[in-house]
Amino acid sequence: MTSICNLSPTIRPAVDKTVREIALEQPSSIRVFEYFGIDYCCGGRQPLTHACASRNIPVEAVLGALAAVQAISQPAAVSNAKDWNKAPLSDLAKHIATTHHAYVQRELPRLAVLAQKVVSRHGDTQPELPMIQELLRSLDAELTPHLAKEEAILFPYIEQLERADAPGTAPKACFASVASPIAVMCAEHEAAGALLLQIRHLSRAFTTPPGACPTYLAYYAGLHEFEQDLHQHIHLENNILFPRAIALEGSLSEQLAS
Ligand SMILES: [Fe+2]
Repeated sequence: MTSICNLSPTIRPAVDKTVREIALEQPSSIRVFEYFGIDYCCGGRQPLTHACASRNIPVEAVLGALAAVQAISQPAAVSNAKDWNKAPLSDLAKHIATTHHAYVQRELPRLAVLAQKVVSRHGDTQPELPMIQELLRSLDAELTPHLAKEEAILFPYIEQLERADAPGTAPKACFASVASPIAVMCAEHEAAGALLLQIRHLSRAFTTPPGACPTYLAYYAGLHEFEQDLHQHIHLENNILFPRAIALEGSLSEQLAS
């Protein structure tokens, strides 16, 4: 096993960083956090050591995996682990809407159909299935209006902010600061994350019983994939889009005041 002391100087400081910081600096780390079930979005503000300890995961194992994915991510070929820290905010908002929002809107109805089938066939012997179905309905009720608010109000405002590069051109809005709707969106992310965590626990981390039918397998695989996508989605908003939008609004306000 990799020892902390044997890690390269570029990796070793990760021990002292928060999970969120690592996710921002090394986008490929998200795959590692997903693998180990470490929360890097809503709960990412704790040090990696604490996150590992709370889940009984040896920190050396996570550091070793971080080093491994960093090594294979070095070539330019990498992937969808794009660094959004420097991309235009309008590009990021568009990416979130067309990739992650579209995925949620596509997947929730499909998962609802699978949930109904699995409950009707196995709900009598698997009492957690009706509970998971109810949680999925709550998730839909939470996320559907949330996405609509982001696409109708928040994202267009952020795009206008980015275009307002001259004093006196700050966009008009129904709120005093972009921090207000962002705080509401973050609270809704927390609520959605909590519902998914309950689904994870009830499903024993998406583990189907022996001999499960293909529908059952597809349902749990779909729920697991949905969880992973939502984590990436919330990470892009909470950790990159929203802080950058607040900073941009602040710099425009300073220009107006000067
Ligand atoms: Fe959101």
